[in-house]
Amino acid sequence: MAIRNIVKYGDDRLVAPNQTVEDFDDPELKRLVGDLFETCWKAPGYGLAAPQIGVNLRVAVVDLSIGKNPDSRLVLINPRILETEGQIRDEEGCLSFPDIVEIVERPEIVAIEAFDLSGARKEYAGRDLLARAFCHEIDHLSSKLFVDRLSSLKRSFVLRRVLKRQKKGAW
Ligand code: NI
Repeated sequence: MAIRNIVKYGDDRLVAPNQTVEDFDDPELKRLVGDLFETCWKAPGYGLAAPQIGVNLRVAVVDLSIGKNPDSRLVLINPRILETEGQIRDEEGCLSFPDIVEIVERPEIVAIEAFDLSGARKEYAGRDLLARAFCHEIDHLSSKLFVDRLSSLKRSFVLRRVLKRQKKGAW
């Protein structure tokens, strides 16, 4: 496993289409998942999606314990939201937007399906932070970024800050 470079906003791979995983026997898939966890823990973050390390596949990981508890490591291959309930506004960030935190509205409870490394279909339910992490990572796999969930005014404000930092070479 290796720590990979996290691509930041402005990189085309963050908004490129992501392919569905079909070959669960490909050893590259296992390596990709391992790299996603390592890179996510190192950052540190609660989740990371493959396009964030420049791989346009529908693969993401979530681990709210950030490497502390093996039971909380979730591999999300070809994940899909099944059901949502409630709405909650809370702070949210993204490893592809370093040092930017905004209030984003997300479902309070989310049920998803995803496939694990062996190709088995799993269902997970999450609330609050876990629900937020599921939605955030699944958005990444649909080439959608958390700033796309902000009002257009707020979004343009955030992107102006990013542009300023890009110009200064601080992005
Ligand atoms: Ni993100």
